[in-house]
Amino acid sequence: MHKKLKSILVAVDGSPHSDRATDFAADLVQQSDAVLMILYVHAPVLKSGARGEFGQLERMEHHQQTEYEIIRELEQQIALAAEQRARKRGAQRTEAVVEVGDPAKWIADMARARHVDLVVVGRRGLVPVAQLLFGSVSAKLAQICECPVVIVP
Ligand SMILES: Nc1ncnc2c1ncn2[C@@H]1O[C@H](COP(=O)(O)OP(=O)(O)O)[C@@H](O)[C@H]1O
Ligand SMILES: [Mg+2]
Repeated sequence: MHKKLKSILVAVDGSPHSDRATDFAADLVQQSDAVLMILYVHAPVLKSGARGEFGQLERMEHHQQTEYEIIRELEQQIALAAEQRARKRGAQRTEAVVEVGDPAKWIADMARARHVDLVVVGRRGLVPVAQLLFGSVSAKLAQICECPVVIVP
């Protein structure tokens, strides 16, 4: 690789795997002076189309309110905790972002939109399925991401 890394995106879910990915990414940005973007994607319990099936606006609103509160909490617990972790390890230019939707798709979309040089993820996450070699997010990302992906064991 000839050019210097300018920006790295680490995708975090609060698991020990994602902590290792964060450490790896933090070490990389420190060596290269790159910006570290930290992305947590909240996957909604209900797909937007399914909401209408409840039929009762009140319940929908309650659900959306609750979901919003959960997002706010996760934003602090997951994205900001990872940012702190990276900063403690020496990463100086960091940016934590929380989005809502399909995690792998968001990670790939953000990597493209922000022209990141490299995406870093853990091999597994919060919900490891024993039979699968890779987690669902890391496996999908490896398939759809247009930039190089580092999968940290
Ligand atoms: N919701 C998410 N937002 C951002 N990154 C995620 C998310 N879920 C997983 N990741 C990233 O993908 C890695 C692998 O997780 P995943 O594929 O979900 O494994 P598992 O199926 O074991 O939960 C995690 O270590 C993390 O880096
Ligand atoms: Mg997972």
